[in-house]
Amino acid sequence: MNASILETIRPAGMTRRQFIKSVIAAGAVSSCGLLHFKPAGAAPKTSPEAVERLITLSVNGQQRRVDVMPQETLAQTLRNKLGLMGLKIGCDRGECGACTVLIDDVPHYSCSILTHSVRGKNVLTIEGLARSDGTLHPLQQGVLDEQGFQCGYCAPGFLMSTLGYLKANPNPNRQELAHAVSGNLCRCLDYDKILTALMRGAEYMRKG
Ligand code: FES
Repeated sequence: MNASILETIRPAGMTRRQFIKSVIAAGAVSSCGLLHFKPAGAAPKTSPEAVERLITLSVNGQQRRVDVMPQETLAQTLRNKLGLMGLKIGCDRGECGACTVLIDDVPHYSCSILTHSVRGKNVLTIEGLARSDGTLHPLQQGVLDEQGFQCGYCAPGFLMSTLGYLKANPNPNRQELAHAVSGNLCRCLDYDKILTALMRGAEYMRKG
C-alpha cells in the first residue's frame, strides 16, 4: 500500500505515525491467524452462492452419487462422470438435439441444463431403454428393422425425443411426429427414412 492511499483512509484525528502503527499491528494479528480463529462449534460461514457438489441423481432408474461442479451441464455429467456415452454433444448450444434425454418424461437438450437443476427428477438416457436381458425397446426395434439411420450419430437424440412425444401422443400421424422431432438434426440428411423408422417404432410400442 503506498503512502497516498494510506493518507486517503487515515481516520481524522489520528496522526500519520499512529495510523501506520495501527495498520502494522492489524497485519501482524491477521498473519498469525487470530482473525481467522473460529470458536469450537461455530457454524461455518458459507456464501449464499455455495452449492453442495456431492449430489444424488436418479438416472435410468438408479440412484447415482456424483461430484458435480455448479456450472456443469447434464450432458457433461452423464457422459464424463457417469459413463453414459449414448447421448452425443453435437453443437453444445441447444441447436442439434443430439444430447436429448428425458427429464420426468419430457425431452430436454442435456447440453443446456445444469445438472444441479435435475436433483429429485428422473433422468432417462438411451441406455435406459433396453431391458436388462438385452431385449430392445420397441422403438429401438422399429429403427433396427427399418435401418433408419446412416451414421447413427443423431439416433439417440431422435429416439429420446420420439419417446417423450409418444408418451403424450401414442398414435401420431407422420406429420405430427415430424414436427415433434423437428428439434433434432441429422447431418446425413436422412429424414425420410428416419421418420419411417420412428413410425415403425411407434407402431411396435402400441402393440406392446
Ligand atoms: Fe445439445 Fe446440440 S449438443 S443441442
